Amino acid sequence: MKLAPSILSFPPDNFRDPVRQLHGAQVDWIHLDVMDGQFVPPITFGADLAAAIGKLGAVPMEVHLMTKSPEAHFDAFIEAGCQRVIFHAEATAHAHFHCAALRKRGVQSGVAINPATPVEAILAVLDAIDVALVMTVNPGWGGQAFIASCLDKVRKIRSVAPSLDIEVDGGIDPNTIRSARDAGANVFVSGSYLAKATNIQQGVQELRAACG
Ligand code: DX5
Ligand code: ZN
Repeated sequence: MKLAPSILSFPPDNFRDPVRQLHGAQVDWIHLDVMDGQFVPPITFGADLAAAIGKLGAVPMEVHLMTKSPEAHFDAFIEAGCQRVIFHAEATAHAHFHCAALRKRGVQSGVAINPATPVEAILAVLDAIDVALVMTVNPGWGGQAFIASCLDKVRKIRSVAPSLDIEVDGGIDPNTIRSARDAGANVFVSGSYLAKATNIQQGVQELRAACG
């Protein structure tokens, strides 16, 4: 299993300490939630903050672009040091093309699907992606309840792609991580659970232990 904690729910005026603790806990990715106020209502942050976070340690960063025209943002986040770029199938008519372009740039590509989006949106681009991100909440906010029915899509993807990274994002905590793993997910985003933990490293250990 791989952990990709999101910094979304950390205090915006004090994200350095929590990020350093995530590095200390040897998580696999730092997950950056970028929202543009159009694809989803909130606005978060841009590539400058990604670059600042990248300077805090060696854990690779993945950017989750919840934006319209995601391709307009690829260069900025690659230049900021992101090694994996994930965008939404719902945000473009050209997902396969954009994944190929990302790989040509030397970074990993990922496509995300919302709870209401059929799994076929991922199946159509399997040959071009390094990670399939199945949203287990509607994108836009941390701290929402896990939508278990999304795991049917994880099962379907796993049945046709035995070695692909399948990531789940939204509502992941020690109570939900096991069902996601059992469905076939192997990469887990967690935001508010770790932000609320009194000790981040212990929170990471609890997620790992619950995953089994
Ligand atoms: C939701 C984001 C998630 C979110 C996860 O729009 O993509 O990464 O921050 O946060 P929790 O774990 O609180 O659902
Ligand atoms: Zn995310």
